[in-house]
Amino acid sequence: MITGGAQGQGASQAQLFVEEGATVVIADIHDEAGERLSAELGEQAVFQHLDVTDEEGWARAVGRVLEEFGRIDILVNGAGINLTAWLEDTSVEDFLRLVKVNQLGPWLGIRAVAAPMRAAGGGVIVNIGSASVAAGLIGKTAYAGSKHALRGISRIAAGELGRWGIRVNAVLPGGIYTQMSVDDGSLPPDINKNFAGQPIPRIGYPEEVARAVLFLASDESSYSSGAEILVDGGMTAAPLKSPIPKHVPRDVAELVREKSAGR
Ligand SMILES: NC(=O)c1ccc[n+]([C@@H]2O[C@H](COP(=O)([O-])OP(=O)(O)OC[C@H]3O[C@@H](n4cnc5c(N)ncnc54)[C@H](O)[C@@H]3O)[C@@H](O)[C@H]2O)c1
Repeated sequence: MITGGAQGQGASQAQLFVEEGATVVIADIHDEAGERLSAELGEQAVFQHLDVTDEEGWARAVGRVLEEFGRIDILVNGAGINLTAWLEDTSVEDFLRLVKVNQLGPWLGIRAVAAPMRAAGGGVIVNIGSASVAAGLIGKTAYAGSKHALRGISRIAAGELGRWGIRVNAVLPGGIYTQMSVDDGSLPPDINKNFAGQPIPRIGYPEEVARAVLFLASDESSYSSGAEILVDGGMTAAPLKSPIPKHVPRDVAELVREKSAGR
């Protein structure tokens, strides 16, 4: 089951998982896009309406999966919403909206699949966090705050559920080209311009995140739990606006002279 699977990164994961032979339940509030994608992906995909903030909705969605497919092997908690605003311009309503979707939503999801996964002898949960937990992004108190909480939930759930063969890991994307980035309004016409200072100086694409999610969802990552994979173009290793020291090329002979002079 992939929440937020109707578009963007979730849709890309749904496609890759189908290619890998999985049966995918696309769970989202965006019914039209979800139905369209499941029709495109064929027999291996179904759409399930789910608002991740709705506890009863989770019971219905997981109940349907168990009834139709007998078990749930993988949950990808990908549904999320964004907000970029100065701290003082962020209302309590906005803040709580992000907490509900980005923090409560995945927590409800983990709780909903824990019992059936335990009964089946194990399972895998992949939470889609954000590289904003590792980079001090201005304007992201509400968004990064909710993703920091998800990081804690992910690691502690790994600790709790490991004894039943359930692995819980996270993928932390950087700037990825989806509707969320477009709606954010901060992308210039040259979409790579904002990312020019990164080790990989361009925006990322949903399929690049999907491959990391696939790794964590598969037995290839059998010894990983409570782990995080950054898929951020190196953004958090080299901050976007880090000062660039002047490069002074030095010739080898000069270095040898310095060394032999004991400097
Ligand atoms: N795009 C980026 O640059 C970026 C960077 C870091 C992390 N992320 C995270 O990646 C995940 C996927 O985002 P995306 O980039 O594909 O954006 P997106 O906006 O294209 O997709 C988000 C999906 O979540 C669904 N959704 C929103 N609220 C929901 C709810 N209450 N219940 C169920 N579904 C809901 C939307 O309908 C949509 O299909 C999110 O968790 C996001 O926070 C995105």
